[in-house]
Amino acid sequence: MRTQVGIIGAGPAGLLLSHLLHLEGIDSVVLELRDRDYVQRRVRAGVLEQPTVELLRAAGVGTRMDAQGLPHDGISLRFDGADHRIDFAALTGRRITVYGQQEVVKDLIARRLADGGDLRFGVSGVAVHDVGSTRPLISFTDADGSARALDCDAIAGCDGFHGITRDSVPAGALTVHQHTYPFAWLGVLAEAPPSHHELIYTYHPRGFALHSMRSPSVTRLYLQVPPDERIEDWSDRRIWDELHTRLAADGFTLAEGPILEKGVTGMRSFVVAPMRHGRLFLAGDAAHIVPPTGAKGMNLAIADVRRLSLALTALLRSGDERLADGYADACLGRVWRAQHFSWWMTSMLHTFPEHDPFQRELQLAQLRYTATSEPAATSLAENYVGLPYSD
Ligand code: FAD
Ligand code: DHB
Repeated sequence: MRTQVGIIGAGPAGLLLSHLLHLEGIDSVVLELRDRDYVQRRVRAGVLEQPTVELLRAAGVGTRMDAQGLPHDGISLRFDGADHRIDFAALTGRRITVYGQQEVVKDLIARRLADGGDLRFGVSGVAVHDVGSTRPLISFTDADGSARALDCDAIAGCDGFHGITRDSVPAGALTVHQHTYPFAWLGVLAEAPPSHHELIYTYHPRGFALHSMRSPSVTRLYLQVPPDERIEDWSDRRIWDELHTRLAADGFTLAEGPILEKGVTGMRSFVVAPMRHGRLFLAGDAAHIVPPTGAKGMNLAIADVRRLSLALTALLRSGDERLADGYADACLGRVWRAQHFSWWMTSMLHTFPEHDPFQRELQLAQLRYTATSEPAATSLAENYVGLPYSD
């Protein structure tokens, strides 16, 4: 088998890359470990930055997002039992859109299949070879058990944090920067109408809590929990009781409903540099992870593949290596800005087991300043809605 770009992973990064390359007349094959149903059901991100929304729309895959996504002009920071709204529209003239990651994934899969794209779900044993040459190869086993070899001009490692592409780079060729946090998030999806029309990021002495949503009838909620917390120890009743306690504020009533899904996710910051080794290009969570507090992970994955599609188009159409050579540095500028923002939001809003009363007062001072100073609120807002792409 032969294709121009072998793409490993059918998350937002791999699927959008395949679509953007198709628009440029470049063919690709997407290889995904899981089955289609699993990929389309996996509940993860929910907040799209304005540049992400504009990119999806310009690429012709924004119709359902525009019809069903929920545009939001601000968020609330809740502390001292009261809300402090950050008005994105007034401060930046921009907004975010709440639209589930699995909906983006469904839209991209539908579009690739309608365009005759080669998406292979349920593959196994994926391995990359000869990435130092101009003819790298991917070996894998198809869902029907047939062993395959896919000759490519370039390979895109879009296989997420636990994928195989990053580890296939020889030791010493990549530098890793990482940081772990002393907590995790317990996330629930509930069949209950949102209790407020916008997201609420809550600082509470018992820990962070987040009120978000997916639709007018589905709420998404998160609780800070210890890093090794077992989901089995959290009955639905215990989850609701803790959410009521942390989200309490005058005039606010949390609507309950059946819990459709729940899980615990660890939190880390992680970056590898460079995001390229020969003809293997890493994109999205395969190259970097941010803690979820700034809602940046999927948006960064999308920014990476936008750049990668331009670099691969120049490389494969006319042999122009310049964008490919600049790919890693150009992506890493945005990645480190998002790392800082996500670390800052996380540090301001969570309780840390090692903190003393002095450090807790510093957090509250930072929250009060962010909520009341226009320059400070603008800094949060411009990062949250997404800084413009730098080219
Ligand atoms: P993934 O979505 O992880 O896709 C990688 C794909 O590769 C998967 O389908 C996987 O099955 C496949 N794969 C893995 N190994 C192999 C292999 N060996 N062979 C073939 N295929 C393989 N981001 C935001 O922007 N906003 C948010 O609001 C937000 N909230 C989040 C909340 C939570 C609780 C979590 C966990 C994450 C959140 N994120 C958020 C982050 C976001 O979900 C990720 O950054 C995003 O999924 C990255 O996309 P990706 O395509 O790089 O990787
Ligand atoms: C959601 C997730 C986030 O990480 C965040 O910061 C805001 C919202 C969500 O899943 O809705």
